[in-house]
Amino acid sequence: MNGIALGIDVGGSGIKGAPVDLATGSLAAERLRVETPQPSTPEAVAEVVAQIVDHFAAALGDGAIGVTVPAVVTGGVVRTAANIDQSWIGTDADALFTGRLGRAVHLVNDADAAGVAEARFGAARSTKGLVVVTTLGTGIGTALLLDGRLVPNSELGHLEIDGYDAETRAASSARENEGLSWEDWAARLQRYYGAIEDLLWPALIVVGGGISKKADKFLPLLHLRAPIVAAQLRNEAGIIGAAVLADEERVSD
Ligand code: BGC
Repeated sequence: MNGIALGIDVGGSGIKGAPVDLATGSLAAERLRVETPQPSTPEAVAEVVAQIVDHFAAALGDGAIGVTVPAVVTGGVVRTAANIDQSWIGTDADALFTGRLGRAVHLVNDADAAGVAEARFGAARSTKGLVVVTTLGTGIGTALLLDGRLVPNSELGHLEIDGYDAETRAASSARENEGLSWEDWAARLQRYYGAIEDLLWPALIVVGGGISKKADKFLPLLHLRAPIVAAQLRNEAGIIGAAVLADEERVSD
């Protein structure tokens, strides 16, 4: 092990990757971003992943490779597809990517990756007890961490609240698509995070996703029992967490 792993974050518009220094959580080289192919089928995404792996081959050496997807992943198989091409459902993506690259690839949920990165190196570093990390983007992703350990595949973005799938009302995309003011969106976030904390009583809530750059516009409008803070690793959390999880998976094999 050379202390480096490659993290690749598959999003709706871009696929971003970089080698990660596993001791510090910092990127060991400037990240590479490639447009997400449309339609973003598993095969098309595997091609881009291969391109990113080639680009960083020298820096990576025999380091592990982790790839995020915005979906539930169990045993390498993608089980849902709320905001990605439906053809992912049932795909053994670990096997597909590993076959395409000729080396092991570890697939993880995008919010789980972001959560692990925040717990290890960011806003939830050394927080004891239950931390809920949420990513507000096209959908809402969630990660549960207990004393820093991930409980994988929580899908609390799909809690039913007031008869709606929560992410359709409170994701960042809902604010943009409906042209909501910060106050109106914050009212929906209040309802969402209030439900989360009534069910789970976390020690800390972390808010990630691109919109967390503007956390000062909406976090002060929320009134919750638990502290709620902006993510620190922002755009890089998925890359960093994917690298960390891939490395851990390899060590445990
Ligand atoms: C998906 C999650 C994902 C989240 C953020 C949700 O719609 O169900 O698996 O983590 O979006 O991308």
